[in-house]
Amino acid sequence: MSNRFKAIRGMADVLPEQTPMWQWLEGHFRRLTFRYGYQEMRLPLLEPVALFQRAVGEATDIVAKEMYDFRDKSGEHITLRPEGTSGCLRAVLENNLCYNTTQRLWYQGPMFRYERPQKGRLRQFTQFGVEAFGMAGPDVDAEMIFMISDLFKQLGLSDHVRLEINSLGTPDERRDHREALVAWFTAHRDVLDEDSLKRLENNPLRILDSKNPEMQPMLEQAPRLIDHLQPASRDHFATVCALLDRAGIPWTLNARLVRGLDYYTRTVFEWVTDALGAQGTVCGGGRYDGLAELFNPKPLPACGFAIGIERLLLLIQTVSTQDNPLWHFHPDVVITREREDEGLQAQLLAELLRQRIAGLSVLVDCSGGKLKRQHQTARQHQCKAIVTINNDGALRLWDLVASQQQQVSEQDLIGWLQRYAR
Ligand code: HAM
Repeated sequence: MSNRFKAIRGMADVLPEQTPMWQWLEGHFRRLTFRYGYQEMRLPLLEPVALFQRAVGEATDIVAKEMYDFRDKSGEHITLRPEGTSGCLRAVLENNLCYNTTQRLWYQGPMFRYERPQKGRLRQFTQFGVEAFGMAGPDVDAEMIFMISDLFKQLGLSDHVRLEINSLGTPDERRDHREALVAWFTAHRDVLDEDSLKRLENNPLRILDSKNPEMQPMLEQAPRLIDHLQPASRDHFATVCALLDRAGIPWTLNARLVRGLDYYTRTVFEWVTDALGAQGTVCGGGRYDGLAELFNPKPLPACGFAIGIERLLLLIQTVSTQDNPLWHFHPDVVITREREDEGLQAQLLAELLRQRIAGLSVLVDCSGGKLKRQHQTARQHQCKAIVTINNDGALRLWDLVASQQQQVSEQDLIGWLQRYAR
């Protein structure tokens, strides 16, 4: 045991018994993005460290503490991507995808953050992300939220998640608010814990994120950014909220929602659940109009979100009251045989069935075990039919759905099994 390798801490295998549920969920993502007119991007796992330092921000936990960064053989400082937005924007700019046009894009794949692993928190986790580029209006912010709400509805999760939104304004509005906030925290220095005192120097906004119960009364009284918004930002936010109301999507204002990435402007949102304990944020996102200008002379308004797939799966498993057959793999037909040396005939029969009946999953039992055992295994697979090649080469069909068995010709078998094609 001791000389066996183990997966690296915080990095989980997705086992064959789990992959059907992943594939089922991925099908939902593909249908969702298709229905809303989004196109898929496939992005590299490695990006330059400098990309995230500038985009996500040097003072954020993600960049300051959590990146899997290293120097490659040529000395370039690169990292496993901790999130998808920065790379997606990099690709859009590099390939000029927004030249005289807008883009609606989505991606899915692993992200890496060196965090302390716990339930719902991994070091390698998977995000489903959506980004819209070149559109500045509040309707696009609402479109993002419509989309997520639609997904949760499809997954039967609407009653288990809630939407919190806020506006982080523009950099000018944030500067005003930051000054007010620093003055407030400085006046209440005696209540700040050690972490918050540090943040007062480098990222005072993040103090609002503190969960320390002793600081809560002071934080509730602290100046709110939403009260420092100028008319344009105020109108933008009011329109997003009005669109959500008109679409019947419930939301609450969380004036302390700041997110852990520096690139946001105006609308930010999170979908949270109480069903997963401490790691209750299933989805996070918002508008990041200023980000492209860090890399490009031309402004490019943008908005997006990402969902943590492992957390979403955990939530589905936690709240589901019914099992779904699509969450498991079941072959439709299992071919068994009485004589061990009928292996080739079994493979040829299976191949005939696959070629003649598209959409039929046919598994050949090649275990070499006794027929009784082969039948037991087939039933454990919860297949719909078992075919046995008898000693004399004749075929016997057990239809487990109709609970009947009969001797059949190859032609009869093909005709009969058509009903189980998917
Ligand atoms: P984020 O809030 O850092 O945002 O991550 C989005 C989601 O990824 C979280 O809500 C959570 O479900 C999942 N997640 C994050 N860290 C972990 C972890 N260690 N283990 C498991 N799941 C995790 C972003 O990444 C932004 N790029 C979202 C965005 C897209 N904003 C605009 N466009």
